Amino acid sequence: MANVIVVGAQFGDEGKAKVTDLLARNADVVVRYQGGCNAGHTVVVDGNTYKFHLIPSGILYAGTVCMLGPGMVIDPKAFLTELDALLERGLDDSGLKLSGAAHVTMPYHLAIDAAEEASRGDQKIGTTKRGIGPTYADKCARIGIRIEELLDKDVLRSKLEWLVPRKNVILERLYDIPPFNTDELLEEYSGYAKRLSKYVCDTSAIIFRSVQARKNILFEGAQGTLLDLDHGSYPYVTSSSPSAGGACTGAGIGPTIIDRVIGVSKAYMTRVGEGPFPTEQVGEVGEKLRQTGTPWAEVGVTTGRARRCGWFDCILGRYSVRINGLDCLAITKLDVFDEFDEIKVCTSYRDRQTGEEFTDLPSIGSILQRMEPVYETFPGWKSSTSNCRSFKDLPKEAQKYISFLAESLDVPVVIVSVGPKRDQTIVIEDPIHGPKRVLTRSA
Ligand code: GDP
Ligand code: IMO
Ligand code: MG
Repeated sequence: MANVIVVGAQFGDEGKAKVTDLLARNADVVVRYQGGCNAGHTVVVDGNTYKFHLIPSGILYAGTVCMLGPGMVIDPKAFLTELDALLERGLDDSGLKLSGAAHVTMPYHLAIDAAEEASRGDQKIGTTKRGIGPTYADKCARIGIRIEELLDKDVLRSKLEWLVPRKNVILERLYDIPPFNTDELLEEYSGYAKRLSKYVCDTSAIIFRSVQARKNILFEGAQGTLLDLDHGSYPYVTSSSPSAGGACTGAGIGPTIIDRVIGVSKAYMTRVGEGPFPTEQVGEVGEKLRQTGTPWAEVGVTTGRARRCGWFDCILGRYSVRINGLDCLAITKLDVFDEFDEIKVCTSYRDRQTGEEFTDLPSIGSILQRMEPVYETFPGWKSSTSNCRSFKDLPKEAQKYISFLAESLDVPVVIVSVGPKRDQTIVIEDPIHGPKRVLTRSA
């Protein structure tokens, strides 16, 4: 048994949901620990495609306890819309739990997110406009509304009476946007609270009891390490802590209960929104990466924006190993390379200004913009991998490519994904059943 964090090792959309769904077959509890409905998580099972934004990707297994942890921000309207769509499809919500300590995204957060982005012009972040930054900002400023406060109409009224006039000043004076009405918000959001209340509990206490009962717990990250507020490409980041450390604060557990951390990376790289992306390919290669895999083309699940595409970056990969303490890797979307003649991998950076070469990230700050990738080229395999179910089924060139990534990041690859469907996966080792964590490569 093991308690495992599933973390995005790149810029988000790595295929975390597919990996979480796969590992959830052996998990008793699945916990989302940060982010909100900025996440877009796709799982494909038996010809059915599920898109999750707030609900953990373990929900497809009846009886699995699925939690939205205290580190999350919840838009009640979005949560109920997502839940209703899943209930209509016959999903079981008996194990669904929502932390009373999670923060609530209110309509003024959505309005401020959109208005701030519009006002930034060229400096925009390219947010998902789901109110994520403003909700976390209120949490840090200690003026946010928690889910448990939403459930108590008197508490909610007194908070809104103080908050709404202040938000309206910002909206009206700074952005020329119509104000919100306190009474209307109170009625609408108390209405949502009535439906939410049956899911609300102290999720951290349940996790602790599950640990004592030696259950398997999966912690499902949203976004990715390079979008982490502290460790990502600031300011082009989200406002939460997607990296492994965030799982402890975001779920309300201590680090000693974590056994393993699996990093999920695509066999290449994508990014949605603005910000540095050293290996980005804007021409033919980028377009081919974007279009390959259609009908699952590289388009954001939440906003429908085209994802920027580029080659795998070992420098950022090694950074992600360091920040998360990754002890194993899942490489997804290998099949996207099936028709490529050659594949490039960035193995070092050259500073465009000084000519200096780096094999590790010199700084995650603005210096990243100056880095020119130095590539190693691998031959393609020009055959389909989507029916491969073991590592040795893969073409030799594909095996070499995966082995190179493992060696370069000094972390074993334990899962290789060769298609979006649950069974299009090569499981070399299931981390839930694997040996306890070692920080140096053992194979
Ligand atoms: P997440 O946000 O990290 O969970 O990833 P997304 O769901 O946003 O994006 C990953 C996309 O790739 C989804 O459409 C998945 O169905 C799809 N996908 C996952 N693994 C594979 C794979 O191995 N091959 C292909 N072709 N698609 C995959
Ligand atoms: P999943 O969980 C990819 C990006 C946005 C933007 C930045 C800040 O599906 O991997 P925000 O709305 O969070 O304030 O936007 O972060 N972003 C994501 N990119 N996948 C995601 O989630 C993302 N969630 C946010 O595009 O650049
Ligand atoms: Mg996604």
